[in-house]
Order: sequence, then structure tokens, then C-alpha cells
Amino acid sequence: MSSRYRPIAFEVERTMHPRASALGVADYVIRHAAPGQHVLDLGCGSGIVGGTILLHRPDLRVSFADKYEYALEETVQNLRRNGLEAHQVRLADMAQPQSGFDTIDLLVSNPPFQENAPDDPVRFFAPQESMGVPAGAPWWFFYDQILTHYNAGLFIFHTGRRCSGRLHALARGHGKRVKVKEKTVHHLLPANS
Ligand SMILES: C[S@@+](CC[C@H](N)C(=O)[O-])C[C@H]1O[C@@H](n2cnc3c(N)ncnc32)[C@H](O)[C@@H]1O
Repeated sequence: MSSRYRPIAFEVERTMHPRASALGVADYVIRHAAPGQHVLDLGCGSGIVGGTILLHRPDLRVSFADKYEYALEETVQNLRRNGLEAHQVRLADMAQPQSGFDTIDLLVSNPPFQENAPDDPVRFFAPQESMGVPAGAPWWFFYDQILTHYNAGLFIFHTGRRCSGRLHALARGHGKRVKVKEKTVHHLLPANS
């Protein structure tokens, strides 16, 4: 079991089909966020992580960002499906300096990493852009970019099995606080449940 909380009902057309495992990040925020905190879901795709947080913690302000317009459109549709509303919805690149976001208390992300994560035995299909670690870059490329370009009180990352040591070391190097949720299961969440 990857989450004790029910995920939002969702549909996906072009974004990556959500995995149950990514809900570990939502779980953590639902249990630990202080009332009223601002949460950014960076690389939101279908909106599964931030949407599930908002479903169970309507007192939080939850914002959504992705590099792709179609992902933001699917996020907004999925939020509407559940009667939820985002705080901010913005196009943003993990690999570029942040701009335009209200002060971020908690940054949650399940960034592209699987394609060349040597420590992670689980590989699965996802749309190319969700897997887009540049050729030759290490699997932790996007985590490093996020820690370089974004400011937040705490970063809560989803990652592969046996990958958390590297991310803790990265965060220490950046002088930032991180919580890492490793993949526990890799089954798909049922759509529109
Ligand atoms: C592994 S998917 C995760 C999607 C969703 N958060 C989930 O857990 O199912 C990674 C997401 O990052 C987005 N993405 C890829 N490169 C990005 C970049 N440079 N900046 C921002 N988002 C990016 C993709 O469009 C995709 O939605």
C-alpha cells in the first residue's frame, strides 16, 4: 500500500499515467503540512500529487507547474473533476530560475529520473517528455536543477529505490532541506476511480 489517502479521480490523455508510488509524497504533505502553507507541485503532469493533497487538505494553498501547457490543462480538468481549485497554475521549467510563484513552503516533485537511474531496477514506459533527462546527464539531473533554481522551506521528492542517499547528499550541498520518498510499488492507479 503506497498511500493511506484516496487519490483524486483523474483521466489522462497526454500526461504520464500516475503510479501509486508517487502518492507517498502526497501522504507526507497531508500528514505534516502546517495549516495554510503554500505547496508547489513541480512537474505536475496529471495533477495527481498536488490534487490529492488538496483533496485531503483544503486548508493548504496548492500550486501546479509543468513545462508543458497540455499538462497544465489536464491538471486543471482533473482538479475540476474533483471540485478543487489551484492557487496558482504556471508554466515553469525545473532547469530555469523560478519566477512568479508566491513564497513556497513545501515543494513536491516527481521529476523525470527513471530513464538512466542505474540504481533503480524498475523501468516502465512513460511519455518521452516525462523521461527527459538529457543524454549524458546523471539520473539526478532534475533534482539538482530544482535545488539550484527553487527556494522552498522543504523539498519533498519522489525517487527510485536506493536513490535517496544521493538526493540527501545533493540537498546538503545546496544547504536545503529535503524529504525523500522512494518508490515502494510500481502499479498504475486506476483512472477515474
Ligand atoms: C515523472 S512525470 C510526473 C507526473 C506527475 N507528477 C506524477 O507523479 O504522476 C514528470 C513530469 O515532469 C514534467 N517535466 C519534464 N521536464 C520538465 C521540466 N524541465 N520542467 C518542468 N516540468 C518538466 C513532465 O511534463 C511530467 O509531467
